[in-house]
Amino acid sequence: MARNTFSGHLGFVLAAAGSAVGLGNIWRFPYLAAKNGGGLFLLVYMVLVFTFGFALLLTEVAIGRKTQHGPLSAYKKLHPNWGWLGLLATIIPAIILPYYSLIGGWVVKYFTVFATGQVAEATQDGFFGGFITAQYSPIVFHTIFFGTTALIIYAGVNKGIERISKILMPLLLLLVIGIAIYSCTLSYTDENGVTRTGMQGLAIYLIPDFTGMTPGRFLGVVMDALGQLFYSLSVAMGIMVAYGSYLKKSDNLPKSVTRVQIFDTGVAVLAGMMIIPAVFAFMGRDGFGAGPGLMFVSLPKVFLAMGATTGTVIGILFFATVFFAALTSCMSILEAIVASLIDEFRWTRKKATIVASIYGWVLGIFVALGYNLLYFEYELPNGSKAQILDIFDYVSNNIMMPILAFLTCILIGWILKPDTVIDEAETGAGRFVGKALYVVLIRFVCPVLLALVFLKAFGLFT
Ligand code: PHE
Repeated sequence: MARNTFSGHLGFVLAAAGSAVGLGNIWRFPYLAAKNGGGLFLLVYMVLVFTFGFALLLTEVAIGRKTQHGPLSAYKKLHPNWGWLGLLATIIPAIILPYYSLIGGWVVKYFTVFATGQVAEATQDGFFGGFITAQYSPIVFHTIFFGTTALIIYAGVNKGIERISKILMPLLLLLVIGIAIYSCTLSYTDENGVTRTGMQGLAIYLIPDFTGMTPGRFLGVVMDALGQLFYSLSVAMGIMVAYGSYLKKSDNLPKSVTRVQIFDTGVAVLAGMMIIPAVFAFMGRDGFGAGPGLMFVSLPKVFLAMGATTGTVIGILFFATVFFAALTSCMSILEAIVASLIDEFRWTRKKATIVASIYGWVLGIFVALGYNLLYFEYELPNGSKAQILDIFDYVSNNIMMPILAFLTCILIGWILKPDTVIDEAETGAGRFVGKALYVVLIRFVCPVLLALVFLKAFGLFT
């Protein structure tokens, strides 16, 4: 059976960007930027993306293309004693898939709430909490979101992933730009007569703020940027190995990887321009809450404050944008698992998709019930109280992903030697100019930074 391939450079770039641009870009990046001195965070992030991030992303894509295998069997092909790393690279997306789909379902729910004109209800206190702790509704929306994802993966690399990414990614970019422009033009006078504008919010976001900056706090900024970019680029989840395996040998790897990074970082920066000015205008600095609260609680209030009609339209466009971002990411998580099953067990796409989908769907229901029938509070090493979703997220993001990425650096940098990736990068591209820098990054810089990310998960820097 001939292996599927992306039809060309653009197909890969948009599909990989589709994976990279996700919930992380839209709610986590803006929040982290606001918390970490605005422009300073952006600056640190950019430097890290195009060094550390580039090396990790190039490595994984090259592993996929070189071996022509999904993550489960790719590592075994690289080195017979390192096959277990492939197992780790398949377990990680298998842990992320169920809860990512559940959150995707929350997004679909909010989209329908705005599309049916129930903005006022969505902003009532307790609406979000009431929804996620309900017994059936989150499961229904998870099923809708997951079903859509599964159908696309079932359709295959070209007819599914590539085709959908080529439509949704340009649309997403247009929407983000449009909403960002609108957000910057806002102005609001609150009950105390204080007027705040979107442009002031933009200034907070873009201009570096050094007040109270100490070396310790700067390290905190760097650590937040590292954690974020790691998640945002979809590395250490097997995904980029799978997508790399669908790349043609004639494709220019360093160029494709750079374009994916520009797309991902561009959308993250624009997402901040879309959210921070609007939140600042209507709620001031207090609006920049953390995590899901920002997207599902604060933003609906901001939309309502724009007026019922405008707020409904902006809300619909916003949640459509988030839906596109989440869908293309969830597709890539499912594909990493499906690619592994196909390559390791020689299953057909049909069989692999059905098996992986039943698994993801059922486990997603289990995660949903973590807010209802199976509710408990577990204290994580970082002190926060977790339900099933948070535990899955913590174990995959903070523990398993840094370990996988670290070991990949060791395998490529020290055991197999960086030439493994460099040779692959030069196939189809000619001389790879960043060669020397890549060697330093993969052997020294990346492993050290990854070790720090890992240690942070155990509360080392708090
Ligand atoms: N990169 C995605 C984001 O920024 C996250 C993601 C996680 C994608 C897991 C795929 C798998 O949201």
